[in-house]
Amino acid sequence: MESSKTMSDGDFAKLRAIVYSQTGISIGDARRSLLVTRLRPRLRDLGLPDYRAYITRLSKDPAERQELTNRVTTNETYFYRTPRVWTYFNDVFLPDFAARVQNRPMRVWSAAASTGEEAYTAGVYLEEQRNRSERFDYAILGTDISSRVIDVATAGLYKGRPVARFRQEQPDLFDRHMTGSDEAGFKAGPRIRSRIRFRQHSLLTPLRNTALFDAIFLRNVLIYFTAADQETILRHARAALHPDGVLFIGESESLKHIDTDFEQVEPIIYRPATRAKGGGA
Ligand SMILES: C[S@@+](CC[C@H](N)C(=O)[O-])C[C@H]1O[C@@H](n2cnc3c(N)ncnc32)[C@H](O)[C@@H]1O
Repeated sequence: MESSKTMSDGDFAKLRAIVYSQTGISIGDARRSLLVTRLRPRLRDLGLPDYRAYITRLSKDPAERQELTNRVTTNETYFYRTPRVWTYFNDVFLPDFAARVQNRPMRVWSAAASTGEEAYTAGVYLEEQRNRSERFDYAILGTDISSRVIDVATAGLYKGRPVARFRQEQPDLFDRHMTGSDEAGFKAGPRIRSRIRFRQHSLLTPLRNTALFDAIFLRNVLIYFTAADQETILRHARAALHPDGVLFIGESESLKHIDTDFEQVEPIIYRPATRAKGGGA
């Protein structure tokens, strides 16, 4: 008999289909136990006897469907993740942009922002550039499909592991731009905070009503999607990126096996392809 500890094949298939239709996240057979681990406490909180009852609840309750999304997404992130990305951003992309563009702010999109650490790390580097050049300004948008992480990102208060590496490896930057204490947690300074906005968005839909971005961080999220959905996401990213812009993906990700309009600058760093697909000589 099915209980909150076990999930029948039929209910796994239904839940997997619901997760896929809501998020695009593709849950393989091997990850059934992950689904059970993430949902079992929810069944207990709701006083539901089994997954069948939970599926019925999902069909009637949009707030529970969002709760499901919040629970099945993996939100691991921290400040200054993959230092190579930040070295390129700071030493190559920022000075090049500042030399090329003087009449508008730099626009940055943290496209699977999770709890915000990536967006605030970008904010630290952009604020440094602003200190070097008064004419420079910037705006950062952070988006994610999980409403829970968007709330955490908007609050922007970090303790322990999320800030540990940045604090240790870039102590001067950390001290200049982050305020707080070990006990209370750390926040980015007000100038950075005033230039960052977070909102909910699914990568499988085009981002509407925004100007083009100069840098898009699409890191550690492609791994959750099928190749076809990765192509859709990359098409939306390309449509949102300025022709002179840059795209960063995750350390363990690559665009080699899929069809996109990006070309590699170096591993995990891409720019829009200079020649459109299918173009002649
Ligand atoms: C592992 S975190 C990556 C955070 C950050 N980019 C980094 O590299 O540290 C992946 C994030 O992608 C989000 N995500 C998953 N599916 C999504 C979708 N369809 N649209 C937008 N965000 C999604 C998850 O909620 C999660 O917060």
